[in-house]
Amino acid sequence: DLAVPFHGKHQAGIATTVQQHLYFASFDMTSTADREDLRALLADWTDAAARMTTGREVSPEGAVGGGPYKPPDDTGEALDLAANALTITFGFGPTLFDGRFGLAGRRPKELVELPSFAFDLLEDRFSGGDLCIQACANDPQVAVHAIRNLSRIAFGRAQVRWTQLGYGRTSTTSKAQSTPRNLFGFKDGTANIFSDDTSDLAASVWTDGSDQSWMAGGTYLVARKIQMLIESWDRVRLEEQEAIIGRDKGQGAPLSGGTEFSEPDFDVVSTKAGGPAIPETAHVRLAHPDRNGGARLLRRGYNYVEGNNDLGQLNAGLFFLAFSRSPLQFITIQRSLAGDALNEYIRHIGSALFAVPGGVRPGGSVGDGLFT
Ligand code: HEM
Repeated sequence: DLAVPFHGKHQAGIATTVQQHLYFASFDMTSTADREDLRALLADWTDAAARMTTGREVSPEGAVGGGPYKPPDDTGEALDLAANALTITFGFGPTLFDGRFGLAGRRPKELVELPSFAFDLLEDRFSGGDLCIQACANDPQVAVHAIRNLSRIAFGRAQVRWTQLGYGRTSTTSKAQSTPRNLFGFKDGTANIFSDDTSDLAASVWTDGSDQSWMAGGTYLVARKIQMLIESWDRVRLEEQEAIIGRDKGQGAPLSGGTEFSEPDFDVVSTKAGGPAIPETAHVRLAHPDRNGGARLLRRGYNYVEGNNDLGQLNAGLFFLAFSRSPLQFITIQRSLAGDALNEYIRHIGSALFAVPGGVRPGGSVGDGLFT
């Protein structure tokens, strides 16, 4: 499988065509780590990521080249697997700028904890973090190998706070890809920002660095772990499921008519129901840019399933990941979704916000603009 270039103006794994699998990790710096530890960690992570994204081992000695008398540098489970379109994307949480690392003056104004929203049931164990790494690949073992080895490299400097495995993409960023489905069975990603829409990306995703120069070519990442109440949903009539989303389940067309990629028309009246064809409480009406001052998101989430609870119900949902030029885009849309009919069937249980710096120059390291 092809390798995705690691270096560039923007970090890979954002506008990159969405891969099949995700492993995401949030880290906290250890209590003894100082500014130099952070700078060195980012440099070490960058070197390892640049190697792994080309399908190589984490270091030149790798899994078996370091001789029999020390633990191997690379854990080895990705030997013989190609790059599989691996991308490794780094982000910085608000807490990284709290003064421990002399970075308070480098905090982007908008990098502050998200406000709380109606229906939030957030748990600490799925929320926050000083740093994050998103690893996406078309082979799950390649993504897991990347996070596992980056965690080892961090030993003594940063430790894992929480992780999330995602087994199936729920979005598309390329019209060449078919639209996948989420666990409610609906196509997800139809009205997304696509990787070839350079003007949309410039308008809605990439930051220009006018606030903090190290954020030029960067973006903000909102991660939300959203539990889906699958068993309740599965007892809802098809007609009502479609009214809750505002699209038909078969092909994903808006209920106002047309086909999957037709624009929803919120003024069309349903002859059957007498009201609007796309109900006032439908997810796509409330999430639509027209309702949110033009705010849009590049959604790049994944499905997760983590066994069953004591009642035998699935612990499953959507690990929602969205990139935007400002966290305000997410905040505006999520506030609008307070009236969403979907809220009866979902619970937000984890939340994190990260500033994602611009791309890495060859020879440089991720976020090196923080230290200049
Ligand atoms: C659209 C499902 C949570 C923002 C959609 C669509 C579906 C869907 C099926 C229509 C297809 C598409 O355009 O992708 C879900 C489910 C969720 C969820 C099952 C929770 C488990 C969220 C959240 C946000 C969001 C938390 C942001 C705060 C959007 C946006 C659109 C959309 C912006 C496109 C609207 C448009 O322009 O037409 N979602 N969604 N969704 N969703 Fe969600």
